[in-house]
Amino acid sequence: MLEDLEKIRNEALAALDKAQDVAALEQWRTLYLGRNSALMQSLKQLGALSVDERPKVGQKANEVKQALEAALEQRRTALQRARLEQTLTSDRLDISLPGRPLPLGRQHPITQTLRRVSAVFAEMGFQVYRSRDVETDETNFQLLNFPPNHPARDMQDSFYIEGGSPDNPTLLRTHTSPGQIHAMREYSATDPENPPPVRIILPGMCYRYEQVTARSEVQFTQVEGLAVGEHITFGDLKGTLTDFARRFFDAEARTRFRASHFPFTEPSAEMDVECFVCGGEGCSVCKHTGWLEILGSGMVHPTVLRNGGYDPERYSGFAFGMGPERLTMLRYRIDDIRNFWRNDVRFLEQFS
Ligand code: PHE
Repeated sequence: MLEDLEKIRNEALAALDKAQDVAALEQWRTLYLGRNSALMQSLKQLGALSVDERPKVGQKANEVKQALEAALEQRRTALQRARLEQTLTSDRLDISLPGRPLPLGRQHPITQTLRRVSAVFAEMGFQVYRSRDVETDETNFQLLNFPPNHPARDMQDSFYIEGGSPDNPTLLRTHTSPGQIHAMREYSATDPENPPPVRIILPGMCYRYEQVTARSEVQFTQVEGLAVGEHITFGDLKGTLTDFARRFFDAEARTRFRASHFPFTEPSAEMDVECFVCGGEGCSVCKHTGWLEILGSGMVHPTVLRNGGYDPERYSGFAFGMGPERLTMLRYRIDDIRNFWRNDVRFLEQFS
């Protein structure tokens, strides 16, 4: 009986050495420690033994059982360690490798320019005023001194949409200037007898129904500016815009004003800055003039002031409008305006 148990132990331990994985271990456990195993059967049959044999055999059987259980645990640990060792060497993780970069978005170049323009005017006390993209003929043209059939409308053909009436159709704004009317009306409504001063910029998208070329798109942004108050002069206009050019382009930037015409400003002027590519010598960017045209401006026309609820006898003001696409094209020497809305990441990625 005792020899049988010794035999079981030796056979079991030898078999255990051959088990190479978890499944084999499990099989081994059923075979040698399971309910029907020889060892367990012998424990069960202890009662059939004589009184002096019983404790010896019982002790031996328990000893073998414990030995087998301990051996099983040991083997299990050894197999696990071997497996870990193997994955560590075959599946090596190189912790010195740099991590994968997360794709980071960035602002569209026009958004970047809009923010820079806004920041400069914010320093000068101008607030951002948001105005609508969908306008009526009245606010987009008539109240800005473009009567029906006025030749100045030819430069701003629009996209008309359903709604409105034959003499006041609905359209997409062709410039940000109708925002002047909305803003002045909103401000003057707060105190019609003594309307408060206005100092705002109006950034936003504009739309013109025209041929798409490298220089003109049907959709583009503008930043309008408007300052209305008592005693505002043309000197304020020149000072503010020259200061803008120095803050936006270069502290030494030289500017010049050229007489121009807009129906809603009088007098009107266009502002040029000295070409920052050639320093005024003349190059292809400035078309050999040494100057770059940056914006249109002028003193707000008395009729426009009145349309906004401001008495032109008491109030005056200046307005200006610039194109962020053009500013961006000049700054980065971009030669085709269509790049901005083409959604080509190879182009957009360059502006971080
Ligand atoms: N609205 C004009 C344009 O689109 C620009 C402008 C704005 C001119 C304000 C003068 C004053 O061409």
